[in-house]
Amino acid sequence: MVEFSQRSQRFQASAIRELFKLMADPEIIPLSGGSPADESFPLAEIRTIIDDLLATQGSALLQYGITTGWQPLREAYIQHLLQPKGISAAAENVIITTGSTQGIHLVCDAFLNEGDVVLVESATFLNTLNVLRKFGAQIVAVDMDDQGMCIDDLAAKVQQYHPKLLYTIPTFQNPTGRTIPLERRQAIAQLAAEYDFIVIEDDPYGDVRLEGEALPPIKYFDASGRVIMMNSFSKIIAPGLRVGAAVGTAEIISTLEVFKQGMDTHTDNLAQAVCAEFLNRGLLPAHLQRISAMYKERRDVMLSCLDTYFPASCRYTIPQGGLFLWVELPPGSDTTALLNKAVQAKVAFVPGAPFCLDAESGKRYMRLNYSFSAPEQIREALRRLGALLHDELQA
Ligand SMILES: Cc1ncc(COP(=O)(O)O)c(C=O)c1O
Repeated sequence: MVEFSQRSQRFQASAIRELFKLMADPEIIPLSGGSPADESFPLAEIRTIIDDLLATQGSALLQYGITTGWQPLREAYIQHLLQPKGISAAAENVIITTGSTQGIHLVCDAFLNEGDVVLVESATFLNTLNVLRKFGAQIVAVDMDDQGMCIDDLAAKVQQYHPKLLYTIPTFQNPTGRTIPLERRQAIAQLAAEYDFIVIEDDPYGDVRLEGEALPPIKYFDASGRVIMMNSFSKIIAPGLRVGAAVGTAEIISTLEVFKQGMDTHTDNLAQAVCAEFLNRGLLPAHLQRISAMYKERRDVMLSCLDTYFPASCRYTIPQGGLFLWVELPPGSDTTALLNKAVQAKVAFVPGAPFCLDAESGKRYMRLNYSFSAPEQIREALRRLGALLHDELQA
């Protein structure tokens, strides 16, 4: 048998992958995914937009496009998503990507050599961990507290490891739901300038704010051009479109372009044009209001059920936006083992271990998603999980 590449061995065999296969069972209540609610999708608007686009620009959309993206989307992204956050950019600073997943890949392609150090939050998006492993990065975790990444520990690790990249999800983080406050954002941009490393600011959730005031992105404080901000249309319109965007210096964007050319030539034109029209027709603000109200109700149900059904020794984050919250169980708990029992009780969540470099310390956490399931399903799922946890903690 022909051997798979060494790179393929670097993807961690996941103890939970087999369990996830069971989750195709329609009776399981999935608090495990990172999906928007099916009923959140603006189907009628998208249908009208696609009809209009095919009638007026059908051939251009079905033809090959340019690698950096459908020009109207690059412009609309700047006008509707960057300028309101205080970020000024020209088209040369923007590349449209096939989801921000691709943007992360492109930045690794552009900057990482085998063995380069990449700093990440101590619990972080597990797909990114796998991408970094594929590139042979030496991944180092930075401590977090209730306000996200700790700047003291970041500064210490920057001086100790001389990282090439810092990967951070500053707003409504996946998996913890935490948000890094303003002074820390400023400090991150300053450290990047002082110690010469690139910051990937991954921000797919920032616009899904349920309450509270928006904060400027780290990119806003980036006087040195070392911050690359990634955005995604997955959570604010629909993930099946597979459209994301990245903003950085013209030099960085043109290097990403070279790698994207070899990867997929360009992102689907029709999907890009749908996003551009959605923004240019002014549909986004009302849509965000609608989904934020929907997710706020679901989050609140989840929070009140955590209080009602979970043992008092469990702690949890209270995110002001995004899709997830993070539950901490008492020391010695093992959420990977618990998932087995949860699946039998027809509930799914993601155990903490795969999000953490130190899988052992991740074992007492679980990530719960509140965007996908209806409030009554969330209530029932938390009731079942709570009963399992009471049994576990008494055993
Ligand atoms: C932190 C983070 N970054 C990136 C992504 C990927 O998003 P996209 O659908 O744009 O590839 C996700 C998806 O869940 C995510 O949680």
